[in-house]
Amino acid sequence: MITMQTTFVMVKPDGVQRGLVGKIIDRFEEKGLRLVGLKQLTPTHELAASHYAVHSERPFYPGLLKFITSGPVVAMAWSGVEAIKVARNIIGPTNGRDASPGTIRGDWAMDIGHNIIHGSDAEETAEFELGLWFPEGLVDWKRAAEDWVYEE
Ligand code: RTP
Ligand code: MG
Repeated sequence: MITMQTTFVMVKPDGVQRGLVGKIIDRFEEKGLRLVGLKQLTPTHELAASHYAVHSERPFYPGLLKFITSGPVVAMAWSGVEAIKVARNIIGPTNGRDASPGTIRGDWAMDIGHNIIHGSDAEETAEFELGLWFPEGLVDWKRAAEDWVYEE
């Protein structure tokens, strides 16, 4: 079954500081996903805490919040058929040292904490995260190349 989804993707402070934003956007755009939201911001503690609330009892949580609020991130929303899975495949597994070359973490990350990028892991989390980071809503547009990305 064809499931059109929108997923939340965020370049973390390490990805921004290392100058990888443009290259990262290229990966999603060239794959055939459609950009429907994009902005740069330094997350407040409150925003980061809500985003990572699921990890609030984990030992790495305080460090994770400190890292995510340490500087600007680039928040994005990408749409496409099964966009959540597609984005996670582009990103690669959590630990950069386990990630295959060709994935974002496989090419650019050497660490589990400093792992460059976030991507929603399920439909419910995507919906929650998009509402949290883009309360103003997303951009609805038809891309001219759409008919060349999908057969039907
Ligand atoms: P993300 O949510 O950031 O896309 O990453 P993920 O799904 O691959 O990993 P997740 O299990 O959701 O963990 C969220 C983030 O917490 C940090 N983390 N550190 N030190 C540790 O053991 C540890 N485990 C997770 C990572 O930055 C991870 O991306
Ligand atoms: Mg996660």
